Formats: sequence, structure tokens, C-alpha cells
Amino acid sequence: MTISALLHGLRILILAILCVGAASHANRNATAAFAANLLQESMSWMDMYYDAEVGYLYSLDAAALTHETRASAWYAAGLFARNEGDDVEQAARIVRNVIDGQHRNVSSQWFGDYQIYPEEPTVGTKQYPPKIYNSWDPNWRGFVGTTFVLILEEFSHLVPYDLEKYILESLYNTSIGDSYRVGGVDGDNLYPAYSNPSIMRAFVSGWVGRRLNDSNMTSAGETDAREVINLFTRANTLSEFNSGTYAGVSLFALTLWAKYLPESSLMGKYGASMIQNTWASLGSLYNANLKNVAGPWDRSYGYDMNRYLSILALQIWTLVGKKNAPINAKPYAMGHKDDFAIGPLIAIIAPFHNTLIENTTYNALLAFPGTHNVSTSAFSPPYDTYPRNITAWLSANLTIGAESFSENVIGGPSINSKSFNPAVVQWARKDGSVGWLTLHAQVKQLVAVAGKQMLDLTYPSGNDRSTFCFLVSTNGRMGKRDVASWADVEGLDVTVNGTVNMDYTVTFNGLVGGAGDTINDFEFWNFTYRMPAGSTEKPRVLLQFELSES
Ligand SMILES: *[C@@H]1O[C@H](CO)[C@@H](O)[C@H](O)[C@H]1NC(C)=O
Ligand SMILES: *[C@@H]1O[C@H](CO)[C@@H](O)[C@H](O)[C@H]1NC(C)=O
Ligand SMILES: *[C@@H]1O[C@H](CO)[C@@H](O)[C@H](O)[C@H]1NC(C)=O
Ligand SMILES: *[C@@H]1O[C@H](CO)[C@@H](O)[C@H](O)[C@H]1NC(C)=O
Ligand SMILES: *[C@@H]1O[C@H](CO)[C@@H](O)[C@H](O)[C@H]1NC(C)=O
Ligand SMILES: *[C@@H]1O[C@H](CO)[C@@H](O)[C@H](O)[C@H]1NC(C)=O
Ligand SMILES: *[C@@H]1O[C@H](CO)[C@@H](O)[C@H](O)[C@H]1NC(C)=O
Ligand SMILES: *[C@@H]1O[C@H](CO)[C@@H](O)[C@H](O)[C@H]1NC(C)=O
Ligand SMILES: *[C@@H]1O[C@H](CO)[C@@H](O)[C@H](O)[C@H]1NC(C)=O
Ligand SMILES: *[C@@H]1O[C@H](CO)[C@@H](O)[C@H](O)[C@H]1NC(C)=O
Ligand SMILES: *[C@@H]1O[C@H](CO)[C@@H](O)[C@H](O)[C@H]1NC(C)=O
Repeated sequence: MTISALLHGLRILILAILCVGAASHANRNATAAFAANLLQESMSWMDMYYDAEVGYLYSLDAAALTHETRASAWYAAGLFARNEGDDVEQAARIVRNVIDGQHRNVSSQWFGDYQIYPEEPTVGTKQYPPKIYNSWDPNWRGFVGTTFVLILEEFSHLVPYDLEKYILESLYNTSIGDSYRVGGVDGDNLYPAYSNPSIMRAFVSGWVGRRLNDSNMTSAGETDAREVINLFTRANTLSEFNSGTYAGVSLFALTLWAKYLPESSLMGKYGASMIQNTWASLGSLYNANLKNVAGPWDRSYGYDMNRYLSILALQIWTLVGKKNAPINAKPYAMGHKDDFAIGPLIAIIAPFHNTLIENTTYNALLAFPGTHNVSTSAFSPPYDTYPRNITAWLSANLTIGAESFSENVIGGPSINSKSFNPAVVQWARKDGSVGWLTLHAQVKQLVAVAGKQMLDLTYPSGNDRSTFCFLVSTNGRMGKRDVASWADVEGLDVTVNGTVNMDYTVTFNGLVGGAGDTINDFEFWNFTYRMPAGSTEKPRVLLQFELSES
């Protein structure tokens, strides 16, 4: 996007803002302006971290002036898109630097992957052992690779010929390296159900194969895509279901399928409908009053989208504008704020991606359509024995969502109890903020049903030592600071029944004190229910909810 396109976008934005007041539904034509606004804001933020001497972004986490690879690649795409001053020159430098640091040993498991940061020791040395998702991250191939393809597709007129050749060499290596990944082998977990990287891998392989006339690579992409598609079309849902962060990545990568691959590819053929269906599912679970997607969340980096930065919220920004999206005025003050660095990519694809979203979905992002139920399912073999059954009940100021599952791990397929949220409640508080409650994942099997004002949870293979831990939001800024019982929780009355002992304990995990650490930057009250000693009943707890005045 040139400066004149940007200015044109801003002009449309002003017109759009003028129109919003009049119409009940914002103008879908404003996408270009909203996207320009996202590009501009995310780039201004990253400009502050750019180290022009080195040609990399400093670590966004302020890690003592070290730099970081992935965010630098995303920033480079944004520089090509902005194309002001010496942006293009800097972008080319960054891309070259990132490729210079690419892993080159074709026999190593991390071949073709990109460094986490340029100052890192050589991965695979005695002092710096190769530890997957630690000293090297296999998903960086997908994140950086898709960014390079996007650059070649959208800005090839700005990319010098020798750099283009270097990028293609880099993409070739990264595709070969990505083909080493097999779920369950060498500590890797890239099964087709690991939606976001499997969609990215299929794309990069398919795109590079076509571009370099390597039919093996092209067909590897098609084979991977077929497995992802077969899983998806079972219930028209992503296996990595309803994740504020990773649904955003999957939608980004599916957009590359739809936009840059031909109809003769399965990816070109299915990409658009998969985007439409994924959004339909997200839209049915979205509550525009709370500006949150109701649970359950397979992988979440927070409990209230207004307080942590999700990639999905950036997409919503391009659809309905920042003001109407779950984004704080200062995105870089939110939890998980480093993901703001993907802003340029989301902005670049928005004009195409946003046309694929149905009106019903789009409208649900602006106005809550009325009380309704959602019933669907998602499937993540080999972790799930059966598909996970998802139920949700959404009303204007209270939403409840949960999933039943039977898995061979605790904490969902990513084996992470901090991000797997199988039962979630959210409600509107008087001050306009959002309260939340989530079941902490501690079991391999759960039967969970969300219904009208209620949540019914059973551990089918639990015993008298089982516990139910509910993590509950702190009150609003003016609300009670201390919580000792449900009566202290602002905005919601909770009634509990079931086979558990009705005496519960409440502890606090805070930023600097309490019983333990925060999770995903969120403080919480921990309401724990235990079973009566010696009980032979199945652990079950039934929660009923009523919005309250206090
Ligand atoms: C959107 O733009 C198209 C083409 O410019 C125009 O025909 C249409 O009326 C616009 N829609 C709205 C709601 O403004
Ligand atoms: C390349 O990787 C293989 C497998 O890890 C290793 O045995 C070999 O020493 C590496 N070669 C170099 C030059 O580092
Ligand atoms: C690609 O891999 C080959 C080894 O197969 C290596 O010689 C070359 O330097 C690599 N290129 C890049 C850009 O990493
Ligand atoms: C791939 O094949 C096409 C058509 O046969 C040809 O135009 C193109 O130059 C080839 N590209 C490469 C990198 O070999
Ligand atoms: C494609 O795969 C076949 C069969 O595995 C192999 O013989 C051939 O060398 C491969 N071609 C390329 C370009 O890698
Ligand atoms: C969506 O709404 C627009 C007007 O805002 C209309 O032109 C278009 O036909 C609608 N699309 C569908 C699929 O209903
Ligand atoms: C939801 O909350 C808003 C703001 O407090 C209030 O105006 C509205 O009446 C509530 N709606 C329902 C259905 O309770
Ligand atoms: C989901 O529902 C189906 C159909 O009722 C059932 O066969 C399956 O076992 C359920 N899955 C779980 C994990 O409970
Ligand atoms: C949703 O399901 C509940 C049962 O859990 C039922 O009582 C309620 O009427 C349903 N609501 C709607 C809007 O369909
Ligand atoms: C509470 O559970 C007990 C047995 O589990 C049942 O007899 C009772 O009716 C339940 N009460 C309510 C209000 O649901
Ligand atoms: C919640 O509290 C219970 C009881 O103190 C404790 O066992 C559990 O580890 C706590 N959970 C979290 C996530 O802090």
C-alpha cells in the first residue's frame, strides 16, 4: 500500500465514521480504511523497536537489547506495505538478515527453520542443545515462510531480483525442513489437527512447489491439505477450536490458500468456504455486548478479549473498526501484546479476506442478535477418543460455553492446562467490564453441558480425590477488592449443587502475592470444590447463574 492508498483509506475511514451513526450496521466498505488504520498503528508501535543499525527489531519484550526474528519478518512485510521514506530499503535488509540466519544443515531436524533471535548460540551444539519449542521452534518455518510468500505475492514490484531469488531459496529449504515434521516422531506434534501450523505448512509447500516446478513439493502440500480438509469438513470446524489467538492464525493461512492457490489445488478450492464456516462458528459464539467469543476455548492466552490481545481481535478491527473491536485504545498495554506485531499481515490480507464473511456473521460482530444456543463439535486425533461436543448458551449479558471430551492427555492437545479452557462463563458488569469464570483443566475426561443459565460438569472417571477449581475474575476497578465467597463476586449470583462437598475454599493468585502466580497475565480467585471423603459417586457440579445488581 502506498502513502496515497493509505491516505485514501483514511478518507474512507472518516466517511465511514460519519455513516456509522446513521445506519444500524456499519458499512462493510470501510474495510480498506480500517485495515489502513491497523497497519499504521501496528507499524508506528514497531517503529519504536526498530534497530536501524542492525536491521532487526529489538525484542518486543525488552530483553536487554537482543533482537527477534519472527516479529522482524512481520515488520518487514509492513514496511513493504507502507512504503514511505526508506521503508523498502529497510525491509529488504531485514529479510536478508533473517535468511542469513536460517538453519542450513540439511540433516538436522531444524533444517530450514529460522532463528528465534539472531544472538542465539548455534542450535545443536553441546552448550545449546536442540530442544523443540525452546531453542528452536518448528512453527517459525510457517510464520516466516508465509510472510515471505505474502511479500512476493503483494510487493514483488518492490523486491530486487537477487533478493527474490534468495527468498525463493529460503522458502525451498523451509519447505523441505517442514516435511521432516511428523506428529509423534522426534518430539514433534504436527498432526493435521494442529490446525494453524498444518494449514501454513500445506500452503508454503504447495506454493513453493508450483513456483519452482517441484511436483513433489506441490503434491506434499496437497496431501497435507487433504488431511486438514477431511478433519474440517466433518463438522465445519477447526480442530484447534475457538482460539482467540490461533483461530486468527488459521484464518490468516486459509486466506493464503484461497487467494494465492488455483482452483486446481484443494487449497484453492476449499480455502474460501473454510474461512466462511470458521467465521460462522465464531460469529455464533460472539457476544458484541461483551466483545468476547464465548467459550470453550481450546487454546487461549487470556480470559477476556478486551484485556489480552488476540489475533482474532485484529481481524475484527479490520471488519468493524477498532472502536467496535475487542481492542484497547492502547493495544500495547494489553496482555499478550507482542502479537500486535502480526498486525501488518492481517491488514494486508483484510481486503480479500473480509469479503468472504457472511452478512449474518458480520452483523453479529456489531450487535448481539438475541439469546440463542450453539451446538457443534471439533475433533483432534490422536488426542481425542471421540470428537469433543460443544454446547453454548448466549444471552445479552451472560454467556456460557463448554465442551465434553475424552482425551489421552490433560490440558488439551497442546497439553497445557493454562490455555485449555473447556468450560467458561462470562458476564457484563455494571461498569461495562466483563466478569469471567473458567474451569481449570485437570482431567482427561469431562462431560460438560452449557444450557440456559447453567453449567453441568461431571468427571466420568473421577474419584473422591477429584477437585473442581474455578478460576474467577477479580472485580471491576471500583468493585470489592476482597473475595471470600460467591457473594463477593460482582455482577453474578452463583448457586451450586452436585455430588461435591458444598464447602469450598477461595484463594487468590495475584501479580505480586497470594497463593500462586497469575495465568496468562490474569489475576484470579480460585474457588475449589472437593468430594466428600470416601464418596463413591461420580464427581459432579452443577452451577446456576443469575445476573445480579451488585
Ligand atoms: C459499497 O461500495 C459499493 C461499490 O463502491 C457500492 O455500490 C455500495 O453501495 C456500497 N455499500 C454501502 C453499504 O455503502
Ligand atoms: C548436521 O546435522 C547432523 C545431524 O544432527 C550432525 O550429525 C552433523 O554433525 C551436522 N553437521 C554440521 C556441519 O554441523
Ligand atoms: C539451503 O540449503 C542448502 C543445503 O541443502 C544450503 O547449502 C543453502 O545455503 C541453504 N540456503 C539458505 C538460504 O538457507
Ligand atoms: C516452471 O515452469 C514454467 C512453465 O513450464 C516456466 O515458465 C518457469 O520458468 C519454470 N520455473 C522454474 C523456476 O523452473
Ligand atoms: C520426487 O520424488 C521421487 C520419488 O520419491 C524422487 O525419485 C524424485 O527425485 C523427487 N524429485 C525431486 C525434484 O525431489
Ligand atoms: C450483504 O449485505 C449487502 C448490503 O449491505 C448486500 O449487498 C449483499 O447482497 C448481502 N449479501 C448477502 C449474501 O446477503
Ligand atoms: C444488559 O446490560 C445492559 C447494560 O447494563 C443493560 O442496559 C441491558 O438492559 C441488559 N440487558 C439484559 C437483557 O439484561
Ligand atoms: C459426543 O457426542 C457423540 C454423539 O452423541 C458421542 O458419541 C460422543 O461420545 C460424544 N463425545 C464425548 C467426548 O463425549
Ligand atoms: C437453549 O437450551 C435450553 C436448554 O439448555 C433451553 O431451555 C432454551 O430454551 C434454549 N434457548 C434457546 C434460545 O433456544
Ligand atoms: C441438588 O442435588 C440433589 C442431589 O444431587 C437433588 O436432590 C436436588 O434436587 C438438587 N437441587 C437443585 C436445586 O437442583
Ligand atoms: C486452586 O486451589 C486448589 C486448592 O488450594 C489448588 O490445589 C490448585 O492448585 C489451585 N489451582 C490453581 C490453578 O492455582
